[in-house]
Amino acid sequence: MIGSGLLIAGLSQCDLALGQSPDEKDLIFRTTDPRNAEPALGDLVKHWITPVKHFYVRSHAPNPVIDPESFTLQVEGLVKKPLTLSLDALSKLKQHTVTATLTCAGNRRAEFNKEGKVGGVQWQAGAIGNAKWTGVQLADVLEMAQLTDNARHVWFEGLDEIKRDNGTIPFGASIPIEKAMQTEPDIGALLVTQMNGRPLTADHGFPLRTVVPGYIGARSVKWLGKILVSDQPSTNHYVATAYKIVKQTKPLDWKEAGPIYRFPINAAIAADEEISLGPGTFRISGYVLPSGISGARIRRVQVSTDSGDTWVNAELTGAEQDYCWRLWNAKIKVTESTTEVIARATDTKGGFMPYRVPWNAKGYLQNSWYRVPVKVQ
Ligand code: MTE
Repeated sequence: MIGSGLLIAGLSQCDLALGQSPDEKDLIFRTTDPRNAEPALGDLVKHWITPVKHFYVRSHAPNPVIDPESFTLQVEGLVKKPLTLSLDALSKLKQHTVTATLTCAGNRRAEFNKEGKVGGVQWQAGAIGNAKWTGVQLADVLEMAQLTDNARHVWFEGLDEIKRDNGTIPFGASIPIEKAMQTEPDIGALLVTQMNGRPLTADHGFPLRTVVPGYIGARSVKWLGKILVSDQPSTNHYVATAYKIVKQTKPLDWKEAGPIYRFPINAAIAADEEISLGPGTFRISGYVLPSGISGARIRRVQVSTDSGDTWVNAELTGAEQDYCWRLWNAKIKVTESTTEVIARATDTKGGFMPYRVPWNAKGYLQNSWYRVPVKVQ
């Protein structure tokens, strides 16, 4: 066990005290124990900065309840000066605010089921959100700890307790040292205490989490208790086995596949599972996220109502910033023969949404053309 003051509870007193616990009208719960929920897409695309109450929650175990007074972050491994940092000590370091989109590698997982059943949380397209994250640059903390020459990867360990194989494990992640050491203006990772200008809620990692801009959400460890510097990627289950693209869940397949880091380009149309419309012209809206590469910008979002024969360009709105989504809207023409609306996008770093994504056993990185069936009334 790392850190201190740890208790386990479903809905914590912290949630209640902070008064920000999303309830069923703000999020659609895919599971309640642990808490996994996504917003309705109509709510999601109303704001470029996603309100906390409409920000998806992805947790593998109940929220740990952590006493901020006794909480400490341990920094150890391949460092000359191991550190024990309280929240107070962290608050005295230079604070940075970064806006970045967080998205789960399993966003849009449910679409894979058309080809073959995939397990895991059955996400539709709402496991994504854009927030302002405030905290300390990871690089500053690693500078204080003084890396040794063989430092290659930085591991993060959460204070949650996930049931596995008759015991419990924490959620873990790791990132390459080159990403960890990136500083302003392209901060590689932040140790975050605030989300959208307020303390983190229990669902989002109170009191401390990592946020790694450009990487899948699984690398942004909530309830962060330990940082360990190593010469190899983390051996935690969520790096060594899960969050990999495999056809079969067999030991060799896991060994042969590398961990996913960056997220790919993706987009969705904000609509129910089926749109009912009469013939005519309508405006639709959605979100689009460029590949998680520094400098990637959305080149084009296009929509089609004739199975991809013709496409119209969408209008992009919201700020254009590294590792952030944009919102879009487009005018579509629905005729008697329209059966679906399709959206696709490209970015300036060669990212494009493919016609089809090969099925994978865990249902990760679904970013094929986004399709919504249309029923013409
Ligand atoms: N950190 C811990 N400690 N435990 C978790 O279950 N889930 C990860 C990541 N960090 C997780 C975690 C996953 S898979 C995602 S997508 C993001 O947190 C979700 O962050 P959010 O719940 O704040 O949206």
